[in-house]
Amino acid sequence: MTALDLTGRTAIVTGASRGIGLAIAQAIAAAGGNVVLTARTQEAADAAAAQVTGNAIGVGAHATDEAAARRCVELTVEHFGSVDILVNNAGTNPAYGPVVSQDHGRFAKTFDVNVWAPILWTSLVTEAWMGEHGGAVVNNASIGGLVLDPNIGMYNGAKAALIHLTKQMALELSPAIRVNAIAPGVVRTKLAEALWKDKEDAVATSIALNRIGEPGDIADAVAFLVSDAARWITGEILVIDGGQRLGDAPLFRSGASISV
Ligand SMILES: NC(=O)c1ccc[n+]([C@@H]2O[C@H](COP(=O)([O-])OP(=O)(O)OC[C@H]3O[C@@H](n4cnc5c(N)ncnc54)[C@H](OP(=O)(O)O)[C@@H]3O)[C@@H](O)[C@H]2O)c1
Repeated sequence: MTALDLTGRTAIVTGASRGIGLAIAQAIAAAGGNVVLTARTQEAADAAAAQVTGNAIGVGAHATDEAAARRCVELTVEHFGSVDILVNNAGTNPAYGPVVSQDHGRFAKTFDVNVWAPILWTSLVTEAWMGEHGGAVVNNASIGGLVLDPNIGMYNGAKAALIHLTKQMALELSPAIRVNAIAPGVVRTKLAEALWKDKEDAVATSIALNRIGEPGDIADAVAFLVSDAARWITGEILVIDGGQRLGDAPLFRSGASISV
């Protein structure tokens, strides 16, 4: 058995009906863990659980619905006997365009799902299990939370808040619970389609590792962060972006830079 083994651990992954969340659930199950996958509808959650090899169940729970979240956490402990891992993955981006052009509805939805839900679910698993027994939480932020962008400033602001709150919760819940965040770059999912569809070659070429991300690239890093292999890591933000945030790779590869 290696430190990456998750046998006997139980994880909740929110927003796991497709994309990065589903891949995370599959990676945790592949490492031996039990998994509870959530989505907004029970049907979507069940369909996702059926795509996981191992012990998996689906639970319909809107990420910001406190009663549904509480039921999901209780059901997890009843069904599997613990909740050792929480991946706050559910996210949304309904606010495209300048921040100053948004309305309160889009602001509230963006911050409720991306910021409030991770706080809510973390507090519920702490109360139900992790406060006494320990555990690991990973929040899915974004490299958007580390940079500025002309069109998705509201979303990026929410992810920046999530990054800050990850560090806050890491201190508040120490030493029993480790709380970390990931900051993915552009990954091939429905949510991010506007960032890669119809321009994938151009986007891929600008990234140091020459391609956009696949959900599995993110999932493997999360499986590490929730395992004992990461036992001395808390309050960290793991950028997983193929080098995207470093800059426009071809400019650096060309050798055409003029020394001054
Ligand atoms: N893709 C990227 O390039 C990228 C980059 C950085 C960060 N991220 C982050 O990665 C996370 C996953 O996104 P993704 O790219 O995998 O998107 P996706 O493929 O569109 O999946 C989003 C998932 O979240 C669920 N979901 C949406 N709103 C929800 C809510 N209110 N309550 C519960 N579940 C909800 C969806 O399920 P239902 O529709 O079935 O409810 C779906 O399973 C998000 O937090 C996103 O911000 C993505």
